[in-house]
Amino acid sequence: MERTFVMVKPDGVQRQLVGEIIRTFERRGLKIVGLKMLRITKELASRHYAEHQGKPFFSGLVEYITSAPVVAMVLEGRNCISLVRQMMGATDPAKAAPGTIRGSFGIDIGRNVIHGSDSPESAAREISLFFDESELLDYGLSLESWIYEQ
Ligand code: RTP
Ligand code: MG
Repeated sequence: MERTFVMVKPDGVQRQLVGEIIRTFERRGLKIVGLKMLRITKELASRHYAEHQGKPFFSGLVEYITSAPVVAMVLEGRNCISLVRQMMGATDPAKAAPGTIRGSFGIDIGRNVIHGSDSPESAAREISLFFDESELLDYGLSLESWIYEQ
């Protein structure tokens, strides 16, 4: 099983899409193992988006991600890093496939509703940035054998 870091961005929270987005992942069969609401500080934003420092959109990105509360979560499931990226759709919602989260709820690249880790390395880094080990729960779901054959 794999874990990934997912965040409903400020626009998603303001547009009251939190329940809809969590529901989408739950219906797919992914398990929530950590969940919290927080206001991201500039320092956390700079660390989270360190790879984009120096790019023209960086200051706007930090402004956006710190502008209102976000909902952060850790999801668990087989190959869930790439599964979640597929479910999110392309970075630019205007190019995201219909039916994906960004393709359903967004229009502008600077208001793309959701974040999900893009690799196992990013997932490990981002999970530890946002969650203490004690905030992540190990538990089974009784319906697991109806989601996975083995
Ligand atoms: P994210 O990290 O937020 O999940 O998005 P992503 O992997 O799909 O895209 P990434 O390349 O990591 O970009 C991070 C966020 O920066 C904003 N962005 N704006 N104006 C632009 O050209 C531009 N490019 C990226 C987006 O909000 C994107 O989610
Ligand atoms: Mg990214």
